[in-house]
Amino acid sequence: MLSVLTRFFVIICVVLVAAYITLTLWGVEFAIAACIFVISIPLIYAYINLARLRRYILEDSLENMPLPSGFWEEVFFRLQRLIRNLKQRIRNIEQQHEHFIEAFQASPNGIVMLDENDQIEWCNSIAEHFFGLVFKRDVMQRINFLIRRPEFVQYLHKRAFEEPLLLERMGPDGNLSLMLQAFPFGQKRHLLLVQDVTDLQKADAMRRDFVANVSHEMRTPITVLMGFLETVQTIELPKDQQDQYFELMMAQAQRMKSLVEDLLTLANLEANTLPASTSVIKVETLMALLKNDAEALSQGKHAINFETHTPMNLLGEEREIHSAFSNLVSNAIRYTPEVGSIRVSWGVNEQGQGEFSVTDSGPGIASEHLPRLTERFYRVDRSRSRDTGGTGLGLAIVKHIANRHQGQLIIESVPGRGSTFTLRFPKERMANQ
Ligand SMILES: Nc1ncnc2c1ncn2[C@@H]1O[C@H](COP(=O)(O)OP(=O)(O)O)[C@@H](O)[C@H]1O
Ligand SMILES: [Mg+2]
Repeated sequence: MLSVLTRFFVIICVVLVAAYITLTLWGVEFAIAACIFVISIPLIYAYINLARLRRYILEDSLENMPLPSGFWEEVFFRLQRLIRNLKQRIRNIEQQHEHFIEAFQASPNGIVMLDENDQIEWCNSIAEHFFGLVFKRDVMQRINFLIRRPEFVQYLHKRAFEEPLLLERMGPDGNLSLMLQAFPFGQKRHLLLVQDVTDLQKADAMRRDFVANVSHEMRTPITVLMGFLETVQTIELPKDQQDQYFELMMAQAQRMKSLVEDLLTLANLEANTLPASTSVIKVETLMALLKNDAEALSQGKHAINFETHTPMNLLGEEREIHSAFSNLVSNAIRYTPEVGSIRVSWGVNEQGQGEFSVTDSGPGIASEHLPRLTERFYRVDRSRSRDTGGTGLGLAIVKHIANRHQGQLIIESVPGRGSTFTLRFPKERMANQ
């Protein structure tokens, strides 16, 4: 490749030689015409190439332009390479950008990028869902015009972003609790991270309720017990009255013992996250045990029937299954008034699932209570439950045990007619032996 100066020098030489030859052969006019002709050839060639260059630039396809020969080849070749490299770099940056966007979109948290005026530069779809934003519509809008909750507006205004902010009753249905925090980045920009803490808040509320409930349940028998103790200590009572007091004290102590036992059972069940074992439980033997206990508890006040419709046995944790079954049976006895009837049955349904059910002719339960019966300490009639020695934890325990055996607790009840509590176990938990 010749350098530009060499090319220029060659052209000048050619022009001078042409001028000299024409001057000696045909005179001055011809010599000038020859000079102009020789000079105009590269100019015309340059013009043609520049016109092509302009056309390809306008079409944004410079990389596809066929290369001319000679001096312009190198210029265009380098230009093409430059454009190709630049376009590749832009593509890489775009790809990286897309990856970042995809990663932010995949985040389970809401992300909003705010500029120095708190205008939304970008937000992911979770943030759109949390705050009812539409990115295309709301881009570059000030966020405090769109999220108008006073505590949020104040949070933005105060700029004390070291602490997160809890927003309750958010989301499209107003049932979400959101924890948000702003983090500074870049030039006075802020990244708003928003986390859905609804479940955590619920768990926290449940824990608080639970502690309050336990304290309340314990306080009542302790207070009664202390009252009796004081009386016995301070007043000289006749022997028979003293015995009666001791009996009442024993009943209160018994109530606390049942409560603590049920709490421990529940805690053990909750701590054990593994599914229940698959030891064979001889249901027939279990039914006989339940029958004995039921008759002792009822003391002949109810007509109790035990029916075993299948020789199939259950695979599970015997102690737990016994506890679940006897909870249902004792509930039926305790809540069914005298002369009521109770039917306890074990069988297999058409789908091959095992079903243990307890039907009573008791007072039944209104439908609004049914979904809440398995909550800890939930009772339809608090005083009746206490009078019969209930802790309010029985059905919570039953449900846990059912879950650990991949089973279900189904409650059907008609007020005034009676209730049926069924424990349904999957086919896989049934055994022939
Ligand atoms: N067979 C039943 N008939 C009527 N109500 C029942 C029956 N079984 C349970 N219940 C209702 O469900 C509530 C919760 O039962 P459970 O968890 O066993 O607690 P409790 O210790 O009060 O028996 C009871 O307080 C009672 O109101
Ligand atoms: Mg109970």
